[in-house]
Amino acid sequence: MTDEGDTTTTGRVDWDAAAAAFDDEPDHGLRDPEVRAAWADRLRAWLPGRPADVLDVGCGTGSLSLLAAEQGHRVTGVDGSAHMLGLARAKLAGRDAVFLRGDAAAPPVGERRFDVVLVRHVLWTLPDPARVLRHWRALLRPGGRFVLVEGVWGTVDPVGVPADRLTALLAPLVDHARVERLSDDARLWGRAVTDERYAVLGAV
Ligand SMILES: C[S@@+](CC[C@H](N)C(=O)[O-])C[C@H]1O[C@@H](n2cnc3c(N)ncnc32)[C@H](O)[C@@H]1O
Repeated sequence: MTDEGDTTTTGRVDWDAAAAAFDDEPDHGLRDPEVRAAWADRLRAWLPGRPADVLDVGCGTGSLSLLAAEQGHRVTGVDGSAHMLGLARAKLAGRDAVFLRGDAAAPPVGERRFDVVLVRHVLWTLPDPARVLRHWRALLRPGGRFVLVEGVWGTVDPVGVPADRLTALLAPLVDHARVERLSDDARLWGRAVTDERYAVLGAV
């Protein structure tokens, strides 16, 4: 339990316990150069062309944080799991990046504001996504943007947020919410996938 509440376990997942093996999934650890390049290409297209302040919410082991830092951005990562954060800090040692432990629903960033709220595979774990999106919206500077990567995983007992739902939740908060479908790009996942995977992008 942290001061902010227990953010180590959400839903059915103990994230501290999951941390050690988390990067074994191709799209988590980005160890395969082709998978890594696929995510780097997407991020380059999604993030601003100039150095920006990126808030990576639920940063996990910091794989996307590292890509963003490699592309010249200043990264603040927030996660509830001390074990995930330990791996992220090691991965980005020497980079322009800080990592904070706290609740993804209310990142402990004080008065700091950001050019990008980057969130991959986290919103589905949070109980009230509409409220969380409004909170994240308040952390963006004018002209800032959301980069939200989500999906619906599994067929028997699927978990996740469908793109239509997330787009509808984001639409009132941005100028225009745009969906980029990611299921067809096997390079991102290290294999072909059939379930729904996507990014929703929106500027404020
Ligand atoms: C599926 S992982 C995604 C990690 C990373 N964004 C990535 O794409 O590789 C979900 C992450 O969100 C974090 N998380 C889940 N719920 C959280 C919460 N309420 N507060 C803080 N972190 C949370 C977990 O600790 C975990 O690191």
